[in-house]
Amino acid sequence: MPIKYLSKSTIKNKTVLLRVDVNVPIEHGKVADAFRIEQIIPTINLLRENGNKIILCGHLGRPKGKEAEFSLKPVGEKLANMLGLKFVETDHKVPDYAIPHLILYTGNIAEEKHQQQLQNIQAKDIVLLENLRFNSGEEENDPVFAKKLASLGEVYVNDAFGVDHRAAASVSAITKYITSYAGLLLEKEIKGLDEVLHKAKSPFVLMTGGIKISDKIATIEHLGKKADKILVSGGIASLFFLAKGFEIGKSKVEAEAAPMARILEKNFKSKIILPLDVVVANENMDKSSIRVCAPYEVGPKEMMLDIGPKTILAFAKELKIAKTIVWNGPLGHFEVKPFDMATMALARVVGGVASRKAFVVVGGGETVDVLRHSHQFEHIDHVSTGGGAMLEYLAGKDLPGIEALK
Ligand code: 3PG
Repeated sequence: MPIKYLSKSTIKNKTVLLRVDVNVPIEHGKVADAFRIEQIIPTINLLRENGNKIILCGHLGRPKGKEAEFSLKPVGEKLANMLGLKFVETDHKVPDYAIPHLILYTGNIAEEKHQQQLQNIQAKDIVLLENLRFNSGEEENDPVFAKKLASLGEVYVNDAFGVDHRAAASVSAITKYITSYAGLLLEKEIKGLDEVLHKAKSPFVLMTGGIKISDKIATIEHLGKKADKILVSGGIASLFFLAKGFEIGKSKVEAEAAPMARILEKNFKSKIILPLDVVVANENMDKSSIRVCAPYEVGPKEMMLDIGPKTILAFAKELKIAKTIVWNGPLGHFEVKPFDMATMALARVVGGVASRKAFVVVGGGETVDVLRHSHQFEHIDHVSTGGGAMLEYLAGKDLPGIEALK
């Protein structure tokens, strides 16, 4: 069965259970990055315009049972603010407020009593269920929990691409019990990522960084076959150098994954471009200790913290002629200046190329952060809300949440 898209259907005056990925960073009880929340607004607005009652559901973090620090309250407050609604938290009967509210419903929806209390929502209000992961049935993909969740709505919409790589009750088992659709964000993700998976124009450049290679290896393997060049930087590059037997000093790497770097280098020898020079410093990152050197000249007490100027030029040369670019992972230790130099410089190159001719996909929380700081966000063709989900999709894997909609 093909996926039913919300954009091509008319859902009117129904109670819609809307699964979203609002797993966002929280700092001091407040949402620190609202990107994922911003991205679900179009679906919420469309459903509201059509007179639907919305019950939102999502998760936050990885709680073990009900843990207050993982409450969706900060998300509810932020969303209420963005939608111009008044925020309220309750585990009682949903009240009929005169002015529109966003109601964080903290009752356990696995219990009959709480299910009944959700019956009298008004279309002007929005209900947000408390963190689904407070109930073990969610991560266990438990059909009983999925059925209870499904019974809350007449229609289910999945707009939670970021969690579709998890076989969880609210994205996988649930579709057996309720008519299910893909929301506007999920559709945008599928189309954007399919563009590079199936229609990538050459030259296709894959640029990758960050520390962990283990969660990216399948993606690099899969996209590497289609890509013309693979630009490797960050901790992943340090790992390649470790695998070659170079001294990498105190550089942060996923050392046990060195064999993976060897495999990639063997499989994509002609495509991989490793840093020609690197920026290093001592462990305290003292300014006086910063220097640029060749990757084989790193001292035992030094850390690789960025790629050097020759590498920036070499990477920029490839990016500038690219017609397709996929970028995931910062190129250096970008949180600390001046080790953000290469990441910011190449973000501008990527943004420039995207605004002219290339189709560019960027994903991963930190990389999206870089786009915002370098003011390149709006030039990028597709900025994915998925971290792991994007990597798995681009690795050619079937995601349980998307398969369940078929
Ligand atoms: C994510 O942030 O990648 C998704 O929300 C999934 O969260 P998880 O990695 O805790 O399953």
